[in-house]
Amino acid sequence: MRLTVAVICSLVAVQLWVTLLAGELKVGYYDDKCSGVEDVVKSHVIKAIILNRGNGAALVRLIFHDCFVRGCDGSVLLDASGVNPRPEKVAPVSIGLEGFDILEEIKADLERRCPGVVSCADILIFAARDASSILSNGRVRFDVPAGRLDGLVSSADEAQAELPEPTFTIRQLIDSFARKNFTVEELVVLSGAHSVGDGHCSSFAARLAAPPDQITPSYRNLLNYKCSRGGGADPAVVNNARDEDLATVARFMPAFVGKLRPVSALDNTYYRNNLDKVVNFNSDWQLLTQDETRGHVHEYADNAALWDHDFAASLLKLSKLPMPAGSKGEIRNKCSSINHR
Ligand code: HEM
Ligand SMILES: *[C@@H]1O[C@H](CO)[C@@H](O)[C@H](O)[C@H]1NC(C)=O
Repeated sequence: MRLTVAVICSLVAVQLWVTLLAGELKVGYYDDKCSGVEDVVKSHVIKAIILNRGNGAALVRLIFHDCFVRGCDGSVLLDASGVNPRPEKVAPVSIGLEGFDILEEIKADLERRCPGVVSCADILIFAARDASSILSNGRVRFDVPAGRLDGLVSSADEAQAELPEPTFTIRQLIDSFARKNFTVEELVVLSGAHSVGDGHCSSFAARLAAPPDQITPSYRNLLNYKCSRGGGADPAVVNNARDEDLATVARFMPAFVGKLRPVSALDNTYYRNNLDKVVNFNSDWQLLTQDETRGHVHEYADNAALWDHDFAASLLKLSKLPMPAGSKGEIRNKCSSINHR
């Protein structure tokens, strides 16, 4: 009898302890649970980026899309299924999301080493951090606190409601970030992620006919040319003119040829391009339409090191967005589906 009471008491204590710890993230969380987790993630990310630099951009975008919807819980990774035919992935705002297979490969590797220990939510954050660091040549760096759980819920409607769209006005962008407790400055800092990667023509359709005070006409011509070559399809065009091919830039924007770079990097070139009205998304250009945001665009255009530093801090803040209170979590077996029970 005495023993039973003791056992029940200690079970209750353990239960309480787990509840209290849930949501508390810690740097080095896996050190005593599965050795070398962060090294394993990093080696996969390096491999993926060597294969294709676009993989790095895809991973950087995923941290935003995961964390802004139900917190950083890997909900963006779930595939459609019989019980959930419309996960976040199928929302219009998810157009062009990639990198899922890289994360699934990392997860499989970690499952072989330590089954049931490392969450997909944490893997995603580690991978996005490593991608930012590699694409910025080591200038964007931060330690990732871990211990996230994988969520059980993923809704396209919710993704559509929580994530900003490229057609948004500055007011809508500021409000969208404010709902997640991000400041106007952080909106500007995080938008600099568009110094890498690409976007589909449908994501900047209105920009193809925007007036010259909103987009430099030679750049608009370049985008129109690239988009018209899709033959009715919806091709993707690099976000940063710096990453364009020489022949196209020489033809449409000869003055920009000197700014081309052989290797795309995550850096503050986005802000200089923005001031020159050489950015593809309306949401990027919108940052010039308000005093405070325009001030920050100038600030980051002029100070590369400041942007590296602030971008790292903002990604870290992004990585701490929690699941809605009371949400249940698990360590998934596979990143694309919740566990069967
Ligand atoms: C401020 C509001 C934002 C809007 C409206 C926005 C919108 C978009 C759109 C429409 C695309 C192109 C999708 C496509 O057509 O394929 C894109 C790409 C991208 N976004 Fe954003 N974004 C925003 C903020 C962010 C943030 C905060 C990050 C990360 C910190 C980010 C990282 C990226 C990256 C890296 C790409 C390129 C992805 C690739 O090449 O695979 N964006 N964004
Ligand atoms: C924003 O901050 C408020 C006040 O601290 C908090 O209640 C809320 O949960 C936060 N929202 C998010 C999305 O973190």
